[in-house]
Amino acid sequence: MQSIGEFNEDRPQDASRRRHPWRSTVGLKVLMAATGIVLVVFLVFHLLGNLLVYRGRDALNEYSAFLVREPPLLWAARAVLLASAVIHIGAAALLWNRDRFARPVAYRRLRPRSTTVPARTMRLTGVVLAGFIVFHILHLTTGTIAPVPFEKHDVYHNVVEGFRVPWVVAIYLGALAFVGMHVWHGAWASLRSLGRSRPSPRPKRRPVAWILALVLWGGFSSIPLTIWLGGVR
Ligand code: HEM
Repeated sequence: MQSIGEFNEDRPQDASRRRHPWRSTVGLKVLMAATGIVLVVFLVFHLLGNLLVYRGRDALNEYSAFLVREPPLLWAARAVLLASAVIHIGAAALLWNRDRFARPVAYRRLRPRSTTVPARTMRLTGVVLAGFIVFHILHLTTGTIAPVPFEKHDVYHNVVEGFRVPWVVAIYLGALAFVGMHVWHGAWASLRSLGRSRPSPRPKRRPVAWILALVLWGGFSSIPLTIWLGGVR
């Protein structure tokens, strides 16, 4: 016998939800999880590439030139990244909208029993991250925001000279703290949505989420901080 709420391919509404995942809450969460994983994989490779700044001008510039020399690879990666970001943000907006319809009047007093600050601020950190990415592309990809003169073919110069400016360092360090929080909760929530992690009464015991968040936050933050403190010249 089938229980209430169980997925049944013979029911037209369930078949439709399988074909169009954005029609069901679970489908939207799976889309968010899958695209979130793509974005985190990008971040891991982006971090590895940027850590080359510690090996000097030639190492970082050679890595950047390699990407530019392979336009099909670069544009394929950009297309996947952009599509993932659009789907991720779109699914989040749809879920938010559903939440509002499900509970048009807010709780008078909400005392969540088992949740964390990053979990409760996912929308805020997500919006800040989207804003940061726009700022970051205008700063280091197009050079539209140029606190120091932008050199199109000298990424090392743009990064190292850029991070000598205190307000730029402050923006990056602030945004990177939000990256860490967003990834910490997002990594765990993705594993839950994909059925890879069981509910736990201890929301802070999440080894995969901790490792990912600390590596990304610490690795990225070390770059502006070390440059600003004079550790890279
Ligand atoms: C200290 C931290 C970071 C540094 C030093 C850094 C460095 C760079 C540089 C140099 C570029 C331009 C590459 C080029 O035009 O050759 C770039 C592009 C980009 N970065 Fe970062 N990045 C950092 C953190 C982040 C974070 C946290 C995110 C996402 C949340 C991010 C997302 C992007 C994106 C989407 C692009 C555009 C990629 C493209 O043009 O195809 N970056 N970054």
